[in-house]
Amino acid sequence: MGVLIVCESSFGNTRHVAEAIGAGLSKKGHHVALFAVENAPREIPEDVTLLLVGSPTHNMAMTTAETRARAVAEGAPTAPAIGVHEWIDVVTPRRTLLVRTFDTRTTGRFLPSAARDAARALKSNGFHGAKTGESFQVDPRTTGLADGELQRAHEWGMALADLDPGAGTDHLPRH
Ligand SMILES: Cc1cc2nc3c(=O)[nH]c(=O)nc-3n(C[C@H](O)[C@H](O)[C@H](O)COP(=O)(O)O)c2cc1C
Repeated sequence: MGVLIVCESSFGNTRHVAEAIGAGLSKKGHHVALFAVENAPREIPEDVTLLLVGSPTHNMAMTTAETRARAVAEGAPTAPAIGVHEWIDVVTPRRTLLVRTFDTRTTGRFLPSAARDAARALKSNGFHGAKTGESFQVDPRTTGLADGELQRAHEWGMALADLDPGAGTDHLPRH
């Protein structure tokens, strides 16, 4: 399986999670390409059978230029030029591609998050195989990942390796 991971990160946590997920998939023998969102391709290469899209949660959703600027004001090293939302708006959709989203956040798991927002945006832009994946917890006191989250990301990557690429067609609208 060829795996493309597109991730956005201001403070570095979502990037670390993306790397751990990628390591889990690689361990299972998959070829993984990881791109920061500003460098991500707008055409998904033919050999990609799983797309993973990760974003920090800002205001219970994907980031905006305004929230990215706030992250910088709060100490993030730099703001990416574009966020996952802007990338989803320009990437050419692949209708049957298996897609899972993930995010980092400081709040509990029942509140809306970037992963849910991204899955919805991907679906409405033509990626019918998109589903909300996992959220990973950032500790608001340290602004680093909570204990055990990198290990959980690695395990999730290994679990994703067993997904059937054909599962991306499960939710196609029937004609
Ligand atoms: C402007 C801003 C808004 C945020 N809003 C939320 C939020 O609504 N819910 C939440 O759980 N975390 C929120 N956070 C915390 C981020 O989710 C956290 O900084 C992020 O997971 C860190 O990821 P990164 O290191 O990849 O940038 C917010 C952070 C910023 C800077």
